[in-house]
Amino acid sequence: MARSLRVDPKYIDKVKSALQRNNYPSQQSLANDSGFSLSTVKSFLNGKPVDYVNFEELSNKLGLDFQAIAYKEPDPQPTNQEASPFITGPPITQPRSFFGREKELKRLFNLLKRYPLQNAAIIGKKRSGKTSLLHYLKNITTTPVEQLRPGQKSDWLPHSETYQWVFVDLQDSRIHSREGILKYILESLNIKVPTPCDLDHFMNVVEENLSFRAVILLDEISVGLERCSELDDTFWESLRSLATNHTRGNLSFILSTPESPIDLAKNTGHSSPFFNIFGYTAYIGAFTEAAARRLIASSPIPFPDEDIEWILTHSQCQPLLLQILCLERLFTLEEGENDDNWREEGLRQIQPFTDLLDKPK
Ligand SMILES: Nc1ncnc2c1ncn2[C@@H]1O[C@H](COP(=O)(O)OP(=O)(O)OP(=O)(O)O)[C@@H](O)[C@H]1O
Ligand SMILES: [Mg+2]
Repeated sequence: MARSLRVDPKYIDKVKSALQRNNYPSQQSLANDSGFSLSTVKSFLNGKPVDYVNFEELSNKLGLDFQAIAYKEPDPQPTNQEASPFITGPPITQPRSFFGREKELKRLFNLLKRYPLQNAAIIGKKRSGKTSLLHYLKNITTTPVEQLRPGQKSDWLPHSETYQWVFVDLQDSRIHSREGILKYILESLNIKVPTPCDLDHFMNVVEENLSFRAVILLDEISVGLERCSELDDTFWESLRSLATNHTRGNLSFILSTPESPIDLAKNTGHSSPFFNIFGYTAYIGAFTEAAARRLIASSPIPFPDEDIEWILTHSQCQPLLLQILCLERLFTLEEGENDDNWREEGLRQIQPFTDLLDKPK
C-alpha cells in the first residue's frame, strides 16, 4: 500500500469547495480542527502527497470518500529487462523504446501547454509510426525517469499530472456504436456515465464535469468514418461543439490518419466541420539520420560501422525498416556470425514494407 496519497487533479476543485460546504471558512480552520499543520492541509488541498493516514482523516473531515478522490498510479510498465531491444510490428507503447519525432513532439506539446488547448492531426503512411506517436504523447510526461533512457526528455508539459489522456482505437469494434464510444470516453475521463448515454446527456455531463485538461487521441479515424454508421455528422459536429464552445478550452483532440482529415471526410461522404478544427498537422515519415543512428546505437551489442551505414541506406531511416534490419543484425551477432549473410535475409524481411521507401527517381 502507498505510504502517501494525493488528491487526483480532477478532484482538486471538488475538494477545495468541500471546505465551505463543511463550514470551514479557511484552510487554517481545517488545520485547527484536525490538529494537522497548515502546510499539511495546503498540500492536501493542492494535490501534493500527504501521509496516507492524514489523507484519510482530512477526507473524512470534508465528507469525502478518500479512496474515490485519491490519485491512482497507472499500472507499472514492464522494466527494460523484459522489453525487446527492437520492436518490429506492434506500436511502441513504452516510452524508452520510442525514438525521434522531436520536432513534431515540440509542436504538438506546444498546442497543449496553453489555453485554449488546440487540436492536431497526425498524418503518415501505413506502418509509419502514427499509433506509436499517440501512445508516446499520452505516456511520456508521466513516466518515471527511471523507466526512460538516460537523457530522454519528458518535461514537455508544466503540471503534466493535471492532464487526462484518452486513447481511442477506432479499430476496436466495441466502440463502433455511439453509446460504446461515448461510454468509453466518459469512463476514461472518470466522469459518471449517464443513463441513457446518448449524445445530449454526454454533452451535458462533459460540460458540467470537465474542470481539468483532457486530450482525446483518436487513432485510425478513417475506420470511424468509413465503417461506423452511428458515428455520423451529428456525432462529429457535437464533438466539435464540445471542444470549441463548451469546455472552456480544456479539451483537445489529436487524431491519426493516412490522409488529410478534410479529404477523408469528403471521400467518405461526411461534412467536414469537425475536421476543420485541426489547425496543426504533423506529417510523419522517415526519421532524421540522427534519430535513426540513436535507434541503431540502442542495440545491446554494438553494430560494426559498415553495418550501421548499410542499415541507414537500406531503411532510408524509416522506423519500421530500421527496427527489422537491426533485429536481424542483432540476432546474427548474438549467434556469433560475423559475415554479411544477414543482409540478404534483412532485405527479404523488409520486402513487404517497401511502400515506405522512396521510389528511385
Ligand atoms: N518513434 C518510433 N520509434 C521506434 N520505432 C518506431 C517508432 N515509430 C514507429 N516505429 C516502428 O514502426 C512500427 C509501426 O509503428 P505504428 O504501429 O505506430 O505505425 P502506424 O502508422 O500506426 O501503423 P498502421 O498504419 O498499421 O496503423 C513499430 O512496430 C516500430 O517498429
Ligand atoms: Mg496504427
